[in-house]
Amino acid sequence: MKEELHAMRLSAKERIDAADSPRALEDARVTFLGKKGELAVFTRRLGALPEGERPAAGALIHAARAALEAAFAEKSAALTARAEQEKLLAERLDVTLPGKNPRFGRRHPMSIVLDEVKEVFLGMGYSVAEGPEVETTYYCFDALNHDEHHPARDERDTFYFDCRTILRTQTSSVQIRTMERQKPPIRVISPGKTYRKDETDATHSPLFHQIEGLVVDEGITMGHLKGTLEELMRRIFGPRARLRFRPHHFPYTEPSAEVDLLCFACGGKGCRMCGNEGYIELLGAGMVHPRVLRVCGIDPQRYSGFAFGVGLERLTMMRFEIPDMRLLFENDMRFLLQFDMGGSRP
Ligand code: DAH
Repeated sequence: MKEELHAMRLSAKERIDAADSPRALEDARVTFLGKKGELAVFTRRLGALPEGERPAAGALIHAARAALEAAFAEKSAALTARAEQEKLLAERLDVTLPGKNPRFGRRHPMSIVLDEVKEVFLGMGYSVAEGPEVETTYYCFDALNHDEHHPARDERDTFYFDCRTILRTQTSSVQIRTMERQKPPIRVISPGKTYRKDETDATHSPLFHQIEGLVVDEGITMGHLKGTLEELMRRIFGPRARLRFRPHHFPYTEPSAEVDLLCFACGGKGCRMCGNEGYIELLGAGMVHPRVLRVCGIDPQRYSGFAFGVGLERLTMMRFEIPDMRLLFENDMRFLLQFDMGGSRP
């Protein structure tokens, strides 16, 4: 039995040496030390030995078990240590590697100008109103006093979903929604997206943005309109900004005006910037038409109001001297990184 035990210990040692994973080691342990393992066979054979030989054989088996258990424990510890070492190596962080710099965004130039406009109007006690971009012809045209054949309704200019549902062509629709909801005094601006079937070029885009303004109260006059717009433009373009009001026609205002800004490049003499006009067309405005007030349930005998609508792209292009509207939509970082650095005025 002594030689057999010795042979078993040798083959166990071979298996232990060869085991290169906890799993293989456990398999080997079961083979030799398990309940039905090789050592158990020796224990069972004890009973068949003459009584006098049993203590010595038992001692041999015991010594073999102790030696095997120690060998397994030692190898198991070695495998665990190796696994830990490998894990540490795999998780090693090279803190000397250069980091990844997150790139910070900037406000879009149109957001900068819109924030400036909002600041001016919120300071004057206005609130911001919003309306849907998918709009009915009632809010965009009918209630705004466009007659049945008004050219703005043309399918060649307006995106129709069906004969009554469109993408709004102007934020003026929000005037009506506001006056339906709220009775005077009313002071709101309403910035938002607007849509027209225009080809994209340096000054047009089928999607653009407008800011609408509406004030309704007792005793509101054209003087209030002029003063308000002059204040706005001085805050956006600097104290030397000068406006010119020209008579115009809009169905929902009477009288109506187009408002131009004195060209800051040439001071009114005429140059490339203003197409030799001396002024640059900026926005439409006027006194809210009595019919529009009446449609919204506001008594035109008692109340009057002014309204204006300005293109945010146009305002932004003039504010930052951007020559082509497409730059505002292309998201070219080289372009966008030039803004929002404190804001220098022209
Ligand atoms: N809705 C006009 C446009 O899209 C701009 C406008 C003109 C708005 C006169 C007004 C206004 O509120 O009174 O060109």
